[in-house]
Amino acid sequence: MERTITIQQIKDVAQEAYNLYKDNTEGKNADYIPYLANINPKLFGISICLMNGEKIQLGDYQYQFGIESVSKVLTAILILRQYGAQKVLEMIGADATGLPFNSIMAILLENDHPSTPLVNAGAISADSMVQPIGNSDAKWKAIVDNMTELCGSAPQLIDELYKSESATNFNNRSIAWLLKNYNRIYDDPDMSLDLYTRQCSMGITADQLSVCAATIANDGLNPDTKKQVFGKELAPKITSLIATVGFYQHTGDWLYTSGVPAKTGVGGGVLGVMPGIMGIAAFAPPLDEAGNSVKAQLAIKYIMNKLGMNIFNGHRISIS
Ligand code: DON
Repeated sequence: MERTITIQQIKDVAQEAYNLYKDNTEGKNADYIPYLANINPKLFGISICLMNGEKIQLGDYQYQFGIESVSKVLTAILILRQYGAQKVLEMIGADATGLPFNSIMAILLENDHPSTPLVNAGAISADSMVQPIGNSDAKWKAIVDNMTELCGSAPQLIDELYKSESATNFNNRSIAWLLKNYNRIYDDPDMSLDLYTRQCSMGITADQLSVCAATIANDGLNPDTKKQVFGKELAPKITSLIATVGFYQHTGDWLYTSGVPAKTGVGGGVLGVMPGIMGIAAFAPPLDEAGNSVKAQLAIKYIMNKLGMNIFNGHRISIS
């Protein structure tokens, strides 16, 4: 079915979602990372970036928050750019774990590979793969440059978050060394863990995340900067990774109810990709018990359902 949706319709529906959920008080900030526990829980922002670069923005879309697990998508793109889709499949995998993001059980169950670059284990493994191997500073530069190209502007390290997370990341330290035990760390384990922790501590805005999402939706061409960031053959690979595990053990429920592949982070951000149509991002710190932003989920679901946008309904939508 062919359908046309106007930009005004998207604006109206996004505004409705914002008004509907802005005073919602469900959920709780992440408290296992001390910095995140202290962020104002009332912050709420939405940003949508269309394929022509036009944006629809509401609330705190310019507030810089911790990117956290959403960064896994960006570094997955970097290793896809550096190694190609087949190598990433062989060296990490593309399976859903069906388990929480920080699961050690998942590594033990699938001890021949860490499943997907979008859970903690696979993301640490992905950081170990970033080239040039053995050079922490150059690897970090590659990670930040890739983020900047995807988002259209540079993210900024939140030093306090980095310190807070480094001082408390005991579970991730176990993951890094367990992966080493299974030969799934391709560089120094402590260095790989540190790069992962640092990338999670990057400050990002909903505005920047919507540009990143739109770049994925637009076959690797950043609609803001007009630069081709990655090969278009990689776009469906990235979206499939996001679709299968973006909400961890709740990914099926999410896709079933929202119809949009999306990735969350415990900083409160969610990045959603509607291929060929738009990138959408929302941010609000309070999380549900699985570590996913309550208000960001509600807002994105509302917008998708109200507009009848769903990757599974096969509608060919043009925006006018
Ligand atoms: O490694 C961690 O636990 C955090 N840096 C990121 C976790 C996260 O964002 C999970 N997503 N919902």
